[in-house]
Amino acid sequence: MSDMTRSGSLPLNLKAFLSRRLPVAVERRAERYELVRNPEDLILTPSALAEAAAGCDYILTSAMQPIPRSVFEQLDGTLKAIGTLSVGHNHIDLDAAREFGVAVFYSPGVLSEACADLAVMLLLNAARRGYEADALMRAGKWTGYAPTQLLGIGLTGKRAGILGMGRIGQAVAKRLRGFGMELHYHNRKALSAADELGATYHPAAEELLKVSDVLLLLTPGTSELVNFLDQRRIALLPSNAVVVNISRGETIHDDALIDALQNGRIFAAGLDVFAGEPNFDPRYRTLPNVFLTPHIASATVDTRNAMGYLILDGLLAFEQGRKAENQLC
Ligand code: DGY
Repeated sequence: MSDMTRSGSLPLNLKAFLSRRLPVAVERRAERYELVRNPEDLILTPSALAEAAAGCDYILTSAMQPIPRSVFEQLDGTLKAIGTLSVGHNHIDLDAAREFGVAVFYSPGVLSEACADLAVMLLLNAARRGYEADALMRAGKWTGYAPTQLLGIGLTGKRAGILGMGRIGQAVAKRLRGFGMELHYHNRKALSAADELGATYHPAAEELLKVSDVLLLLTPGTSELVNFLDQRRIALLPSNAVVVNISRGETIHDDALIDALQNGRIFAAGLDVFAGEPNFDPRYRTLPNVFLTPHIASATVDTRNAMGYLILDGLLAFEQGRKAENQLC
């Protein structure tokens, strides 16, 4: 065999642009390619991405790195595949990828448990006023135990509304059952009884909202869901509801949520994702009833390694002329 793989279609000396730093173990495995790095480890503009990846066969990237049509146009003829360490793929123009014959790999499944853990962390911190409690201690202002201090919301017996009962939603549901919560969900279609995990299906999202003492936004980021949680839908929630978002920031209409948090219509929110990341609405910083994390739902060492390996396995299958399960197009 010359410099071709078994499929006879790809040369062995493939070049990959790493648009982000990846965990050490993943980068080590990626060294089977000639690597071109992005030393800044920051999101690039599409034109900077195309310039940096010129001449590369692959782009290895992550959530939030925009890869619009212009990138495919500029890299036409050289770019063969993109691997994104994310379950979300709304940052990549898949229609353009198909049109330009570029394969795209993502990393579903392996991050569900880590994301579910973070959803629960946000929920507990929002419901039990984690930010205020921590800030009080650090400010040295705690005057001692008081029966009325920092009263929060208990979860047992409350209704959890899961918008998006996919793999992550089901992992969250398993955890919330452990808290003794009543489970409800909305998806486009009802799940099988086994996958429902005892949750009640609501064919209309609005009906789910009406029973959501706790609303968990766990959907993929899609254009139909932009500004889903707006003023009208917030008004459907029971009073003192808690909102958790690990989907995409755009799923929430920030003005509406901030207003509801300020006037007490919503008790608290736990947010991991933000419209315009990393420049999220600064009013969130001033609200004591919001618990904020910087888009870290899948950020555990094991999970990020697994995400990276899944991408590299997908690319290997591609080189061998096989179609991996995590190939989107
Ligand atoms: C994803 O995988 O899409 C997440 O947003 C990144 O943790």
